[in-house]
Formats: sequence, structure tokens, C-alpha cells
Amino acid sequence: MMIRSIVRGVGSAVPSRIMKNSDFGSELETSDEWIVQRTGIRQRHIAEEGETTASLGEKAARQALDNAGLTPDDIDLIVLATSTPNNTFPATAVDIQNRLGMNHGYAFDIQAVCTGFVYALNTADLHIRGGMAKRALVIGAETFSRILDWSDRTTCVLFGDGAGALVLEAGEGAGLTSDRGILAASLRSDGNHKDKLFVDGGPSSTGTVGHLRMQGREVFKHAVGMITDVVEATFSTAGVTAEELDWFVPHQANKRIIDASARKLGIAAEKTVITVDRHGNTSAASVPLALSVAVADGRIKRGDLVLLEAMGGGFTWGAMLLRW
Ligand code: ACO
Repeated sequence: MMIRSIVRGVGSAVPSRIMKNSDFGSELETSDEWIVQRTGIRQRHIAEEGETTASLGEKAARQALDNAGLTPDDIDLIVLATSTPNNTFPATAVDIQNRLGMNHGYAFDIQAVCTGFVYALNTADLHIRGGMAKRALVIGAETFSRILDWSDRTTCVLFGDGAGALVLEAGEGAGLTSDRGILAASLRSDGNHKDKLFVDGGPSSTGTVGHLRMQGREVFKHAVGMITDVVEATFSTAGVTAEELDWFVPHQANKRIIDASARKLGIAAEKTVITVDRHGNTSAASVPLALSVAVADGRIKRGDLVLLEAMGGGFTWGAMLLRW
């Protein structure tokens, strides 16, 4: 027997304000047609004043707890993936812990940009399997609208705000791929690419928050190869093939990257969950937001084999297989 981290609940939150492609001003010289054709994005949610990574994360966490039939008292670990924290410190996870009325357990942030949620789930899984925690809230929450250069059409049309959360609980498994819970993961990073997608500010360099900068074509060039490599490594660790998958829940950056990755991996389009059209790229929130959509509409069900993957700034990339 072995400990497995099993998903007990899922939740999400998006700001109520929706920005459609047609809402970009004419001075930006973009169009709905260009954005849809190059990215698949039709709209994104944008935080209102006072809406923050912590407030969205709290909302998603409460929904995940309700969905699990649990309360904050039942949780002993919060791991938040974000690149847009409320403050430089303390960790926004601690802010969310406080908002939930929790003063037991421990909470911390993880920074791996768009791969953050996969890193966070993996970290929580290791804490659970190592016996440090029994139940963890794993949250991805972002307000990228606050770090965008709204005069740069090559980046500002791509991103949106939101949050998603899972409750993980320690359970027993037989060590087989038929077990429920997290089965295998593979994480990578390569700082050689750190200048291809970054924020041009920070506490120790400029003393400012800075704005997102990206060489889009360079990111695109590396994305599919990195994603498929890390997925294949995860399949091989778990001893699973693409045909056995029930659902593929990729990071939602660009529909062309998702489609090309799925094609190369031999994953059918009907098994691929797409939410980039409605959320844009919400960085660390995109995978849990997509999961919560596919659970809420009845696609992902108990016992299904689910593949997650993400790639982002750093570069960082990673994949995870779990049985729901
Ligand atoms: N509207 C209209 N035209 C635009 C826009 C826009 N919003 N943005 C760029 N263009 C123009 C460019 O200026 C260029 O014009 P030119 O030919 O006159 O120079 C033309 O469109 C083509 O530009 P490319 O950059 O070659 O366009 P491409 O097809 O590569 O699409 C895009 C750009 C969508 C950014 C693509 O490169 C991409 O998706 N890259 C990956 C980015 C990504 O997904 N990043 C996130 C992953 S990591 C993470 O999630 C944090």
C-alpha cells in the first residue's frame, strides 16, 4: 500500500468584467480576426479595482472546499501558484489562509509562471506523501492585467485574470495506475531562456513591479517540443499510453500550441479541454480553471485518467497524470 494524493474538490473564480477582442481600442491596431486566428482567444476576464490575486484565490478555494464538503479547519497546507502576488511579501498564500480564517497549518507561494500550478500540485503531493500534511488546498490565481503593457498589442491581447483550486487529500493506493490520485509527474526548467518571457521589474533589480515582455515567436518555437517531451516522460514513468487517457487538460496559452501538441502526442481532439477562447491565458490559473469547467459540465468524472501540462516563463515546463 502507498499514500496517494486524491482530488476531493475543485473550484474557480473569474472577475465579472469580461473584455472581448472587439473592446481593444483602435489605437492598438489589432482585430478580433487576428486574435482568434493566431490564438483562439475571444475574450478574457479582467479584475476590477479591489479584486486581487488573494480575493480571487480565496473565492476559488472556498468553492473547492464546498465542493469537497470540507471547511478550512480540515486543511493543513495551502500552496498557491502565482506570478502576480498581492505584495512582494508575505506570500499571498498566507493572505488567503487568513481570509479563510485559518491560523493552523502552513501556507506558501510557488513561482513557476504558467507552469506554476503543475509545480504546486507536485509539491503538495510530495508533502502529502511525505506525511507532512493530510489535506491541501492547491490554488492557481493571477491578475496578469496588472503587469501588462496595455499599449503592446503583441502581449496585452493574450492574457486574462482568474483563479482555480483543488483540494487534495491523502488516501490509500496499491501503487497501480488504476489507483485514484496523482500517479506521475515530470518537471523541467531551463534558465537559458529567461529573457524570452519575463517581467522587466522586481524588488531587487529596479524596485518597481515592471511589465510583461515576450518574444512570442521564440516561445512558440520551443513550446510544442518541450510540452511533448515532458508528457512522454510522464507517460513512461507511469507506464501509460496516450490511448488510455480520458482527458487532456493543457495550459491554455494558445489554441495552435494546444492542437499541435495534442496531434504530436496522438491525443484525440474530443479528449482535449479548451477554455482559452473564454479565459485567455491566465498563467498559473489556467489549468485549474479548465479542470473546474470540465468537471462542472460533467466531462471529467471519478475514475477518469487526466493529463495536465504547462509551459511558461523561465522556461519552466511540466506534466502530471492523475486519476480523478
Ligand atoms: N494584432 C494584430 N497584429 C499583431 C498583433 C495583434 N495583437 N500582435 C502582433 N501582430 C503582428 C506583428 O506585429 C507581425 O506584423 P509584421 O509581420 O508586420 O511584423 C505579425 O502580426 C505577425 O507576428 P508574429 O509574432 O510572427 O505572429 P505569430 O503568428 O507568431 O503570433 C503570437 C504571435 C500569438 C504571440 C504567437 O507567437 C504565440 O502564441 N506565441 C506563444 C506565446 C505564448 O503562448 N506565450 C505564453 C506561453 S508561456 C505562458 O503562458 C506565460
